[in-house]
Amino acid sequence: MKQLINNDIYYLGVSDRRLKDFENYIPLTNGVSYNSYLILDDKTCLLDTVDALKSVEFFKNLEETLENRTLDYLVVHHMEPDHCALIKEILLRYPNVTVVSNVQTFKMIKQFFNLDIVNKKEVKEGDILNLGHHELKFIFAPMVHWPEVMFSYDIITKTLFSADAFGCFGALSGNLFYDEVKDETYFSEARRYYANIVGKYGANVCNAYNKIKDLEIKQIFPLHSYLWRKDFNLIIDRYIKWATYEPEDKEVVIFYASMYGNTAEAANNLAILLAKKGLKNIKIYDVSQTDETYLISEVFRVSHIVLMCPTYNLGLYPKMSSLLATMQKLNVQKRTFALIENGTWGPLANKIMTEEVNKLKSVKILDKKITIKSSSNKQNELDLENLAEEIVNSIK
Ligand SMILES: Cc1cc2nc3c(=O)[nH]c(=O)nc-3n(C[C@H](O)[C@H](O)[C@H](O)COP(=O)(O)O)c2cc1C
Ligand SMILES: [Fe+2]
Ligand SMILES: [Fe+2]
Repeated sequence: MKQLINNDIYYLGVSDRRLKDFENYIPLTNGVSYNSYLILDDKTCLLDTVDALKSVEFFKNLEETLENRTLDYLVVHHMEPDHCALIKEILLRYPNVTVVSNVQTFKMIKQFFNLDIVNKKEVKEGDILNLGHHELKFIFAPMVHWPEVMFSYDIITKTLFSADAFGCFGALSGNLFYDEVKDETYFSEARRYYANIVGKYGANVCNAYNKIKDLEIKQIFPLHSYLWRKDFNLIIDRYIKWATYEPEDKEVVIFYASMYGNTAEAANNLAILLAKKGLKNIKIYDVSQTDETYLISEVFRVSHIVLMCPTYNLGLYPKMSSLLATMQKLNVQKRTFALIENGTWGPLANKIMTEEVNKLKSVKILDKKITIKSSSNKQNELDLENLAEEIVNSIK
C-alpha cells in the first residue's frame, strides 16, 4: 500500500516475520524490516531495494506508488543483498533508470549480478543529485559496515538516509517512527544489531559521525527498523558509546559454562554475594543456553564481566572459547574482567582466559582469580566472598 512519509518521500520498505535468523545465524524474535524509500519529485528516485524474499510485495508497492510514472534514479547506499537483491529486476522493469552510486558499489554490482550498468552516475563524496526540488548530497561512510557504504542527505528536507547506521532488528507494524510506538525491546535489540554486525568498526562509525554531526538533521531514515524525526540523542548517544567501546552501565554480567552444574552453582553464589553487597541488575548467562549474539550485546552494555569456565581438553569449554574469540573479532575494549576456572585433574582455564582477555585493548583483570577443583570447597567460598568484594570496589 502507498505510504507517504512527508514531502513526496514514500516508504517502500517491507517486513519479514518469517525469517528465523538474520544473516543465517542471528536469531530474530520479531522479524526484521528492510526499508526502502521513493521520492516522487520532478524526477523519481528509489533509495535502495529490499531482500529477495520480499520481491513480490516490494514491486507491487513500487508500481502502486509510482502510479504511471517511470523510475528515473536508483540510489544504492549499501550493496549487502538484504538491500540490493532486486537491482537486476529494477533494471529489467525500468530499463532507462540511472543507477547512482560510487565506484566501489559498481564493482560489487558487477560481482553480484555480472552486470555492467549502462546508465550509471558515479558519485564522489559531497556530490549532489538534483531531483527537481530535493537535492541528495552523498556522504561516504566506509566500513559502516561494508566498504562501499554511503549516506545521503536531502538538503531540502534535512533528511539523513543513513544506510545500516541506526538500524535495528524488528518488523514494523504500521507506525514508521520511533516516537509513535512503545517498544520496550528497541534499545537492547538496537545494541544487539550494532554489536554483532557493526561492532568491529567503532573507529569507522566515529569517522562517519564526525561527517554528519554538524548537519542540521530533521529526520533520520535508516535501512532497518524505525525512522527518527525527534529525540535523535536517544539513539546517537548510544551509538557514540558503542562506537567508542564505552560501557553504558556500571554493572556486572556473569557468563558461565558448566556441564555438571558445579560452575553454575558458583555463578549463582557469586551473584547472591554481589546482590548482598548492594549491586543491582546483576545478570547471569549460561553460555550454552543463550545465543552468543545476546551475550555480545551484554558485553557492549556493561562495565564488568565475570567469566567462569571449566577446563575442557586442556583448553576452554567450546562456547566460552567462541565468546572470547568473538569479543576479539569485534574489537571489544575498556572492560574489567574477573575469572573463575574449574577443572578436575589439571585446571587451565584461567591461564587461557587471561591470555585471551589480554588480547583486548584497555582491559583490566581483577587480581583475585579463583580455581574450583570439581566442586566448590570451603576455601572457594571465602575466595568468592573476596572476589565479590573486589568487584564491588572496582565498580564504585
Ligand atoms: C570432554 C571433557 C574434557 C575435559 N578436560 C579437562 C581438562 O583438560 N582438565 C581438567 O582439569 N578437567 C577437564 N575436564 C573436567 C571438567 O573441567 C571438570 O569436571 C569440571 O569440574 C566441570 O565443571 P562443571 O561441574 O561446572 O561442569 C573435562 C571434562 C570433559 C567432559
Ligand atoms: Fe548491511
Ligand atoms: Fe542491512
